[in-house]
Amino acid sequence: MSLTRLDKLIAASGLTRSEAAAAIRAGRVAVGGAVITAPETKVEPERGNVTLDGAEILTGLVYIMMNKPAGYISATEDARERCVTELLPQALRRRGVAPAGRLDKDTEGLLLLTDDGQFAHRVISPRHNVRKLYRAEVEGVLDESDAEAFRQGIVLGDGTRCLSAELTIEAPSTALVAVREGKYHQVKRMLASRGKPVRALRRLAVGALWLDETLAAGEWRCLTEAERELIFHNDTSK
Ligand code: URA
Repeated sequence: MSLTRLDKLIAASGLTRSEAAAAIRAGRVAVGGAVITAPETKVEPERGNVTLDGAEILTGLVYIMMNKPAGYISATEDARERCVTELLPQALRRRGVAPAGRLDKDTEGLLLLTDDGQFAHRVISPRHNVRKLYRAEVEGVLDESDAEAFRQGIVLGDGTRCLSAELTIEAPSTALVAVREGKYHQVKRMLASRGKPVRALRRLAVGALWLDETLAAGEWRCLTEAERELIFHNDTSK
């Protein structure tokens, strides 16, 4: 169990380090119900139950699902573009919450964000084999030869070979696409290589974790521990 200085922990909730230290000295912070007035006190973030002015603050690592809207890039800052983290409160941005994987600016749907670097690596790295499920609308009409080409492993325009993937036709120009890697513009480039450019792309699931469809575009919520586990199971059947 790791120990963290109390002022650092309080600062992560959205204060500067000196504001946090002043709040602690002023007796506004309690740990497990007991007021602590020394900013350097070491506490265990995982135990939670830390309050500032009586309100509990988030102390452990943060895991978020967002229904990403089109028009935002999967980054934490950019000089010109709007970033998905702008949809989060300042307190979470200050903690260093960042996207675990990327969706293109025009792609919508399930985006995971966290301040847990190891977790993000597990989600992203092809070594961990996490299945990402998309619904793609394309120009043109899909057929079984497309599904077979996906099974065999698509070779992209630049010669890059993709791992075997699944394409399930839902309607003449709509398919579910499941991939286990995250090359740049992967789904779009796979479908473009079949002469069927993507018109709209939405991520539905990561592993066995589905987007909570009650979240409107741009809304987010924290994941439960059970939901976090689902990410590393690949059965996406609901
Ligand atoms: N593949 C793409 O082409 N774009 C995305 O945003 C995600 C997967």
